[in-house]
Amino acid sequence: MCGIFAYLNYYVPQTQKDILDILIKGLLRLEYRGYDSAGLAIDEGYNENKKNEGHIHVFRNRGKVKALAEKLYKQECLDFNKEFEIHFGIAHTRWATHGIPNEVNSHPHRSDKNNEFLVVHNGIITNYKDIRTFLEGKNYVFESETDTEVIPKLLKYLYDNRENEDIGFSTLVKRVIQQLEGAFALVFKSRHFPSDAVATRRGSPLLIGIHSKNKLFTDQIPILYQACNNNGHSSKGLQIGHEDLKCSGREQAVEFFFASDASAIIEHTNQVLYLEDDDIAAVVDGCLSIHRAKRSMTELTSRTIHTLEMEMQQIMKGNFKAFMQKEIFEQPESIVNTLRGRVDFTNGTVMLGGLRDHIKEIKRCRRLLLIGCGTSYHAAVATRQALEELTELPVMVELASDFLDRSTPVFRDDVCFFISQSGETADSLMALRYCKDHGALTVGITNTVGSSISRETDCGIHINAGPEIGVASTKAYTSQFVSLIMFGLMMSEDRISMQKRREEIIDGLRSLPNLIKKVLSLDEKIQHLAQELFQQKSLLIMGRGHHYATCLEGALKIKEITYMHSEGILAGELKHGPLALIDKMMPSILIVMRDSCYTKCQNAMQQVAARQGRPIVLCAEKDEESMKFAYRSIEIPQTVDCLQGILTVIPLQLLSFHLAVLRGYDVDFPRNLAKSVTVE
Ligand code: M6R
Repeated sequence: MCGIFAYLNYYVPQTQKDILDILIKGLLRLEYRGYDSAGLAIDEGYNENKKNEGHIHVFRNRGKVKALAEKLYKQECLDFNKEFEIHFGIAHTRWATHGIPNEVNSHPHRSDKNNEFLVVHNGIITNYKDIRTFLEGKNYVFESETDTEVIPKLLKYLYDNRENEDIGFSTLVKRVIQQLEGAFALVFKSRHFPSDAVATRRGSPLLIGIHSKNKLFTDQIPILYQACNNNGHSSKGLQIGHEDLKCSGREQAVEFFFASDASAIIEHTNQVLYLEDDDIAAVVDGCLSIHRAKRSMTELTSRTIHTLEMEMQQIMKGNFKAFMQKEIFEQPESIVNTLRGRVDFTNGTVMLGGLRDHIKEIKRCRRLLLIGCGTSYHAAVATRQALEELTELPVMVELASDFLDRSTPVFRDDVCFFISQSGETADSLMALRYCKDHGALTVGITNTVGSSISRETDCGIHINAGPEIGVASTKAYTSQFVSLIMFGLMMSEDRISMQKRREEIIDGLRSLPNLIKKVLSLDEKIQHLAQELFQQKSLLIMGRGHHYATCLEGALKIKEITYMHSEGILAGELKHGPLALIDKMMPSILIVMRDSCYTKCQNAMQQVAARQGRPIVLCAEKDEESMKFAYRSIEIPQTVDCLQGILTVIPLQLLSFHLAVLRGYDVDFPRNLAKSVTVE
């Protein structure tokens, strides 16, 4: 949930200022992951004899990265022009879990006042209390309330009590993580191992970008894969490559970037390596090696370097006020990218390459389970009815946390879908592992290549929406929606009785991008509506059938970024309780589209009007009948019923955005939240 960024330059000369700029920029790119405090650690530098004095500066600050940057650039103790041929700096932006956001709880955390060992951490250490009690018993003094602080202190304890004088940094880290329970991505720096870097992960994402002008070096970056035996020495037999390619000094000039996600790395290099759980990556003398914390017989002996497909411009805001706004307006394009190469509009066929080898097995299953959290769960609710219809299978939709709390029965002939933009959400990932343990086939629907969910599922669909940076999920929702519909179409390909329905849906998919553009052209009207509503305390959103999910999703967007109370209500439930909330003061939005629930929704609207409520109606173009009862109306172009939810959710995305701006909130950084929830 936090953001980690670290930068190592090896024979690539950089001034102190360059290094700070790189670290700060990296943090800014990751700030959407956490933004209540930030910090970094850099070397003091060399004295006149070019010898490293070993001192490490740590700067931390409550608030956003900008506040940290302001503090840094005022520091008189820093010589911004000092040049470093080799340097390793670590940085962090925090989303508080243990301990309030303040300077002392911010990362990097340290082993002691001399900063012998420093760490930045993403995740939660669940057994930190036991470790802290142990270390306090050994007279270690803790300064923060965090779970993280046990890590550098345990590292120092192991270092101080080492039997073997030349124990390596990565071996120490290996011993530390063997004691840790919970989830973590960690990057370590130490004055005992100046210019060396160690990074590891379990359950939280971490990747390493590699940049070298030396082509040979880049193509054949030596990955040393080794297991350390118990006395801390690597067992030589397992080493690969390395010595042959090792050259000295400037010839092997190289930069390494460690980050929680690719958006912080792409401006430096597109060559990345995703760490697996229990990998320990170490950079020593400019060479990267991967060690394993636990060794099993079935392990691979190498890690592949991937080329990132991401473009710089995808992670820039351009002329938009916020990433969220940009991402709402990208939807005509992101939907085209989700459909691209999968739907053949001429022949009316759908082929999802990631499911090709498993589709027969899926067709034989007993039921489908769609599992996710927040917006991703809403994508499951939104498509459930269409999937029941197209697959003729029972479809269960599940919130990952509740699914786990109930220890829901799962069987070998179930197919479980894990829907997640980030592919890293802890609850969804745990639910995935639970389903795998129960022998079910697992399918990932993610937006992040290389994410834990995409790697751990048996097969899947990449939604191709492009990077989503706004904490409020928008374009990922509509692309998840379309991906699930495409799955339904693929499942129903050989059902003669469904051909007409399939054609209707495929036609709907073809015209979707243009209809989305039409809905986006309502932006000004929605902004005016927001002006009327932004001072309200509460906003109810009602609908049923295909639009229940839109109500839930619209209300989530409003809560998340405007901090107004908002509730998505199934209109069929109105008379069973929520109607009591209606009076002339309570604003409500009703979704009344021309589908099988049309008359029922009109009834609901009349019930609201009869209690002096003033319904704002989202209805089909020229639906005079519905507009008659409306206080305000927004006319939406009509499409096939099971895709209509994509068009009704967009006005609510826009409304939440304008409400948040008018209420003076930072749209992309909603309080108490962060983009990727990698903690349970
Ligand atoms: O990355 P995921 O899709 O797994 O994230 C799940 C939720 O945390 C996420 O959708 C959240 O609800 C959004 N911020 C809502 O806009």
